[in-house]
Amino acid sequence: MKRILGIMGAMAEEIDEVKTMLVDVKSVEVGGRAFYSGTINGIECVVVFSKWGKVAASITASILIGRFAITELLFVGTAGALAEGLKIGDIVVGQRLVQHDLDARPMIPRFELPLLNRVYVNSDVRLTGLAVRAVSKLLDRGVVQVMGEKNAKEFSIVAPALVLGDIASGDQFVNSAAKRNSILSELPDIQCVEMEGAAVAQACYEFDLPFAVIRVISDTADHNARIDFIRFVREVANAYAKAIVNEMTLLLD
Ligand code: ADE
Repeated sequence: MKRILGIMGAMAEEIDEVKTMLVDVKSVEVGGRAFYSGTINGIECVVVFSKWGKVAASITASILIGRFAITELLFVGTAGALAEGLKIGDIVVGQRLVQHDLDARPMIPRFELPLLNRVYVNSDVRLTGLAVRAVSKLLDRGVVQVMGEKNAKEFSIVAPALVLGDIASGDQFVNSAAKRNSILSELPDIQCVEMEGAAVAQACYEFDLPFAVIRVISDTADHNARIDFIRFVREVANAYAKAIVNEMTLLLD
């Protein structure tokens, strides 16, 4: 079967940057989303802005799967840190994805996906392993190479860490200690929080498609989150997205 890699980004800025890497690019609009097809490092790719939130992301993933016949999906975006010690600029590769705002009690236990009998969806072991290798290569090259000296200094990013761990998604931007602590008290092993990954994971699980999620920490999901997030997306997230996709496609054969 011919490999077609779907690449979804959580921010338009990230996708704009990744788009510049496509060779022989063609664009098609479906469901209010622009899908860009072409090759990156010889790998056939379809690149699209996921839009925000779980519903938008699952619609986008379903179109990639049903209409563009992708064979694997890579999600790249930013996230707010929940785990102690994670800093802005660190990278989390998702091992398991969970929807922190899913609650159909008393019919179904807290966080459990209705009719799927599971709380967590596992990312694909092979693709996630490649994601870890790709991110390690990128971090080994040094942050200045990825984002430039000015940005590295401005965001105090010195030697970003790579963490393989669990990611929680929900339809809210987490920007207070109360919200972040409430998620952590119920899901203590979560590394970071965002708004799309677990929805994409569920879509891929139901369509039996391998996926990986890579999230760069843009904020610490507290009262500074909004300001840090906006600055980070404008200045740095697109550079990370481009570098990650470049390394990842170089590793795919
Ligand atoms: N994406 C990046 N930062 C986030 C946050 N604090 N909450 C939800 N999604 C995010």
